[in-house]
Amino acid sequence: MDKNRKVHQFKNPVLNWIEFRLPIVSYFKKEYGDYPMPKNCNYFWSFGALATITLVTMIVSGIFLAMNYTPHTDMAFDSVERIMRDVNYGWLMRYIHSNGAAFFFIIVYIHIVRAMYFGSYKYPRELNWILGVFIFLLMMATSFLGYTLPWGQMSYWGATVITNLFSAIPFIGEGLKTWLLGDYNVGNATLNRFFALHYVLPFVIFGVVGLHVAAVHVHGSNNPDGIDIKTNNDSVNFFPYMLIKDTVAMCAFGVAISAVIFFGPNLMAEVDNYIPADPLVTPAHIVPNWYLAPFYAILRAVPDKLGGVLLMFGAIVILFVLPWLDRSKVRSCNYRPIYKWFMMGFFVNFFALGYVGMLPAEGLYLLIARVGLLYYFGFFFIITPFVGWIEKPSKLPLSISDVYAKNIAPNIGGGEKGIPSPAMQKDTNL
Ligand code: HEM
Repeated sequence: MDKNRKVHQFKNPVLNWIEFRLPIVSYFKKEYGDYPMPKNCNYFWSFGALATITLVTMIVSGIFLAMNYTPHTDMAFDSVERIMRDVNYGWLMRYIHSNGAAFFFIIVYIHIVRAMYFGSYKYPRELNWILGVFIFLLMMATSFLGYTLPWGQMSYWGATVITNLFSAIPFIGEGLKTWLLGDYNVGNATLNRFFALHYVLPFVIFGVVGLHVAAVHVHGSNNPDGIDIKTNNDSVNFFPYMLIKDTVAMCAFGVAISAVIFFGPNLMAEVDNYIPADPLVTPAHIVPNWYLAPFYAILRAVPDKLGGVLLMFGAIVILFVLPWLDRSKVRSCNYRPIYKWFMMGFFVNFFALGYVGMLPAEGLYLLIARVGLLYYFGFFFIITPFVGWIEKPSKLPLSISDVYAKNIAPNIGGGEKGIPSPAMQKDTNL
């Protein structure tokens, strides 16, 4: 026993007992109690917490669904209907789970937009960003697998279209597809393994989220001005300040998702998936979940199958290297007068890609998808490096307190009682 080990002392004897054996109490106090949050962080910084709570909700509701679901092609569709009609509160679990998936993507997309706009992917948070992109990939895989399980028309045909993509890979494609399906076509073996993987992947996501959040806490959170905490006056403790803010965000989120679950549970659902899977009847339009549609639009915008597959996966893989494509030292787009507009253009373009990804790939829609595809890759390969090189950023505030004193609350923070701090008095050009 190491007698020199310093043990943190708490007032509560139970906590002391635990702390002596496993220093988890002091760990939580440090990481979620005293953790310094930049005091200029806005509600965008609550989306990480919202994503975490949604992930937990998805896992819990999923476990309840799995208790009554049967992964067999003859019974899957009916078992879901039974959950909806006969299982106590089964309808609630299912609607929480299906709408939760859509909300999860909305939240994570906003979380990514925040990270991109305020440059949170830059030094020293690159690994944090990389883990995030990895989570995003896992989320897409999980939602695709989950979409197959109700064994409706879209489940079957979506799985058929997506797994067919693998056959475009030269030499090994066909073999790889058969290996993934466990059969020559989407069938019972496929449904079984998709269910097994859909059950396990959320726990993998949970583990990666743990690393992701731990990585954030090493260098601390970024903020809307993208400048580092310099003094204690620049930050507030996570507890209670940020926790209260996150709780407000969670309540608002709870109202929004409840409104959909109770008043429009099928708003984001695909009607064709209420028809049992039929391998002999192809639906008129095979559409993916709306949150995967931007990538589907990229796939269909390319006339060549292999080219489409490569660009679709490339559209995600490119995110991994974003921290190195952006050459600007300034993080926040608030101080980047040119890049800011290209960044907003990127978000609009992504939205447009998603829109056309849900429509038939013909005429104007196809044209929009092709222009969108060019902008998407042009943004990463040309705009981001080039603008970083030529742009003259606006003058950065000297400290977070100075921004706070000037922009948000002239009477508190920053300098004493509204008097601008010496740094601010020198720098009136904020
Ligand atoms: C299950 C999905 C995810 C969960 C639960 C999650 C959770 C979190 C949490 C709790 C934080 C700290 C609080 C905050 O800054 O909001 C955070 C920060 C961050 N996340 Fe995520 N995240 C997820 C997905 C992603 C994805 C997909 C990306 C990017 C592709 C990403 C990029 C980032 C970045 C760059 C930060 C640091 C932000 C900053 O310091 O300003 N995250 N995440």
